[in-house]
Amino acid sequence: MDTQEKIAALNELLEAERAGVEVGTLLKKNAPKGYFRNYLLKIEADEAVSCAVIERGVRALGGEPSKGQNDFAEKVAALPTLIERLDLLARGQWWVVKRIDKLLAEEIPAEVRSELEEMRHEHVVNVDWCNEQVAEMKAEAEETATT
Ligand SMILES: [Fe+2]
Repeated sequence: MDTQEKIAALNELLEAERAGVEVGTLLKKNAPKGYFRNYLLKIEADEAVSCAVIERGVRALGGEPSKGQNDFAEKVAALPTLIERLDLLARGQWWVVKRIDKLLAEEIPAEVRSELEEMRHEHVVNVDWCNEQVAEMKAEAEETATT
């Protein structure tokens, strides 16, 4: 990747993370107070931090951060159930992890690298959480169906 391609890749991620903030906002809206909702707040906050991280990365490479947002939030909102929404959120976050890996394989400034590594780590943790919730909800649904 040349510098322009790295900037474009970061901006693509930035547009995804902006949508991620909106997904966090959307999901927490209907969630009752408690640990589950608290974790959605964490995801929302992580996505906002990721936006800042990527903006810094774009500037460090001499680029201009995109002001756009992709359509991920609309895709999540279009799904009828929380299970499906969390499942898509997990897959969306995993897509981000793979995109970060591509950037980490390139030569990038050290401070950008370390922030992207942290961002990757938080995304992996959040993917695991989403997948756990999906598995629990599916198990509960099956239990209800059989009793
Ligand atoms: Fe994200």
